[in-house]
Amino acid sequence: MNYRRLGRSGLKVSELSFGSWVTYGNQLDTGAARECMAAAWDAGVNFFDNAEVYAAGKSEEIMGEALKKLAWPRLKYIVSTKFFWGITDGPNEKSTLNRKYLMNAIDGSLRRLQLDHVDLVYCHRPDPATPIEETVWAMHDMIERGKALYWGTSEWSAAEIMAAWQLAERHHLRKPVMEQPEYNLFHRGRVEREYARLYEDAGLGLTTWSPLASGLLTGKYRAGIPPDSRGAIPRMKFLVGDLTDPAKNAAVAKLEGIAVELGCSVAQLAIAWCAANANVSTVITGASRVSQVRENMGAADVIARLTPEVMARIDSITKSVIPA
Ligand SMILES: NC(=O)c1ccc[n+]([C@@H]2O[C@H](COP(=O)([O-])OP(=O)(O)OC[C@H]3O[C@@H](n4cnc5c(N)ncnc54)[C@H](OP(=O)(O)O)[C@@H]3O)[C@@H](O)[C@H]2O)c1
Repeated sequence: MNYRRLGRSGLKVSELSFGSWVTYGNQLDTGAARECMAAAWDAGVNFFDNAEVYAAGKSEEIMGEALKKLAWPRLKYIVSTKFFWGITDGPNEKSTLNRKYLMNAIDGSLRRLQLDHVDLVYCHRPDPATPIEETVWAMHDMIERGKALYWGTSEWSAAEIMAAWQLAERHHLRKPVMEQPEYNLFHRGRVEREYARLYEDAGLGLTTWSPLASGLLTGKYRAGIPPDSRGAIPRMKFLVGDLTDPAKNAAVAKLEGIAVELGCSVAQLAIAWCAANANVSTVITGASRVSQVRENMGAADVIARLTPEVMARIDSITKSVIPA
């Protein structure tokens, strides 16, 4: 496993990391989550991604319990959380990045994670109803109070990220260091085009999500929806159209041909492809079982096999199915 700087910060993250969306508290109990984290750790992962909203706080509780049992030195791992949607009802508790919510939310997350600080904290979505200045000050204060070390955004527009960055620059506040966007072979526009200037101008690092497009890029949806897959989970129904899209599944079948030539699985090829982008600091993987973690971590060895010629062949396969 290689370690990359998180954007312009000095923090080094493993190029593959491990997150808990959908899985923790739904498919994985504390014991199984701990085994998956241990498998990722054994492969060199040092970053574990989480969010307040995942399983309504349960995902943080599970990670907190797992970390306690695993007893790794605190300096050696990086934990994140994210705020926006909230887990309780009320005008200042849902879909907001106002100061009152954020300052309360970090205390709840630290309690559930059983930690005195998180390393990374994200504004999980932009909040058009709160001035960016208020959010930037709150994130700055969260860091100054020792509750988080670095802050960033998730799925903010380039303009919103730049506005936050410039505001922090102007007032000598902690700047956003990283963004967490979706990035995979079928979802590329934001990372490759919209954010293009931010890597140099703002030193933005990326911690990207859904490298397998929720499992589509493993090839397992080519014959329909397996009963033990994310696509079969009732509340994940919104993914089914994409997971069973005939054009995308036909492209995955073609990618499998390249994977065979490279001596890897198509999942490993897809994850390695994300990591091959030098602007990506870490690719956050997800898994519902240990065998998937082990397979996915094998992608670290595939990155070097992605020569310009292989990348061009991959592009020619995917270009017909990704939006212009
Ligand atoms: N910031 C955001 O808004 C945001 C949004 C989404 C995710 N994230 C973060 O990114 C992380 C990764 O996202 P993701 O879970 O969507 O990643 P993904 O890699 O696109 O999908 C992971 C899912 O695919 C299936 N899978 C994984 N490896 C497999 C393999 N080798 N063979 C067969 N199936 C496999 C598993 O689901 P099944 O076994 O159930 O099919 C697994 O849970 C999340 O945990 C979270 O930390 C952030």
